[in-house]
Amino acid sequence: DFYEKLYRPHIHFSPSFGFVNDPCGLVYDGKQYHLYYQFRPMHNLTNEVDWGHAVSPDMYQWEDRGHAIVNSDEKGMAFTGSVVVDGQNTSALFPPGKAPLPANQMKGGLVALYTRDDRSIRKNHKSTIHAAWSGDGGNHYEDFAHNPVLDLNDPDTRDPQVFWHAPSQKWVLALASAYTHEILFYGSRNLIKWEHLSTFAPAGYQGVEFECPNLVELEIEGEKTKKWVLFISLNPGSPQGGSSIQYFVGSFDGKKFVADNSVMDFTDFAKDSYALQIFNDAPDGVKCGVSWFGNWQYCFFQPPKNWSGAMTLPRQFHLRRNEIGLPMLIQRPVGIDALVAKTLTSSQFVMEYERKVEKTVALPTNAAIDVRLEAQVTHSVEPNGWLDIEFSNKDGEVLSLGYQRQTKSFWIDRSGLKGFSNHTFSTHFAASLPRDSKSFQAQIILDGCTLEVYLNDGAGVGTCLVFPKAALDTLTLRSSQLGLDVKKFEVNALKTTVKER
Ligand code: FRU
Repeated sequence: DFYEKLYRPHIHFSPSFGFVNDPCGLVYDGKQYHLYYQFRPMHNLTNEVDWGHAVSPDMYQWEDRGHAIVNSDEKGMAFTGSVVVDGQNTSALFPPGKAPLPANQMKGGLVALYTRDDRSIRKNHKSTIHAAWSGDGGNHYEDFAHNPVLDLNDPDTRDPQVFWHAPSQKWVLALASAYTHEILFYGSRNLIKWEHLSTFAPAGYQGVEFECPNLVELEIEGEKTKKWVLFISLNPGSPQGGSSIQYFVGSFDGKKFVADNSVMDFTDFAKDSYALQIFNDAPDGVKCGVSWFGNWQYCFFQPPKNWSGAMTLPRQFHLRRNEIGLPMLIQRPVGIDALVAKTLTSSQFVMEYERKVEKTVALPTNAAIDVRLEAQVTHSVEPNGWLDIEFSNKDGEVLSLGYQRQTKSFWIDRSGLKGFSNHTFSTHFAASLPRDSKSFQAQIILDGCTLEVYLNDGAGVGTCLVFPKAALDTLTLRSSQLGLDVKKFEVNALKTTVKER
């Protein structure tokens, strides 16, 4: 129907039907990327939760392959987890000669470590960690015969993230103890026998539940050093409302993660990015990943009706020191340049502070739109100086973004869109930019019901669902009491990479 098409992203993964939340088991197998995802085919909070599966050569062209791990009446729901390439068959799960991964001469293959949550079938329920192996390159998984591999006799320890820690030659597993707000670390030589290494707590925002930990080592821009970053998803009770992701920068010696004093923040200034996961084994050691484009507060109410949920664009992560020297998270979308199909406008100009200047660009409505802006403030009359970047349509709907000089902030305002309202669907978000900087840079990607904003080369990110009633087909740039030297204003229509549905 009309809204299903209007909200369907063109370059973001979304399910053809049913409800999607967390990305799971993100892994590159030497040939292609695997994206597994929490899948509720019945599109509600019933007790059926499976792992869906999609593959891609580039994290943009996704081919959906359906179920990889299924909900079961005996074992319960298949909640979030990880997939690793067990090339050496350390797990001994792969019988000799049994379907190794096609790309390499491997003795093993893909192994999933995931949460079984049996609240759907048992009164005194538990969540336990299960291992499973794939004899067909990742399309289907068979459970290890002696599951669970980790049983803490607890209803809410879940979402194992597993990765190979080369310096200590072992697998490391990070697990969320949701209600005690702890991240538990385990180590193993074979993915089956796990030994407790350490516990990270208490830290950061507590909220109600900790979920989906991800520990990853990231480079600091311009330095040869690296730091470990621990991402923890938090729901409900995040500052923006509902769910969001916090991260800590610190060190990890193979046993214990220690956070640096005061290096903690949230990954996003809007509220629709959750359950971030990083790909295991991405080429060239690149640290990239996706998160769920949604928020538990309103995901079951939002349109459209027949499908729900998407993944964010693939993002690459690293650290950059801020004005006071703290290494902070940088997130950049991967490979957008290669997707440019048509440049709709590209110019440089000056906006005088005493004169209203307007630039208008007509937008195609059947493609993702990429806007790039770089500007330098030459004159401002405070407190009013602002620049507005506005997506609109003839029905009077407006999605407004912009820069406000006095507060040195960048806003997103989705209140002028009429396709969805709910008391938790907050409408205004803002990111602060460095106080003493006179220039700023923004990349804005609008794609169906998804809006992503990357500020100052990934230093600030806003991930925001948008539900207009009609397509937003006009872009207007307008300033007031702000003199600007616009060094770049480029608008591109992007190639559609997901299958037309
Ligand atoms: C996070 C989460 C996980 C859980 C999964 C269930 O969004 O609640 O903790 O494994 O979703 O779908």
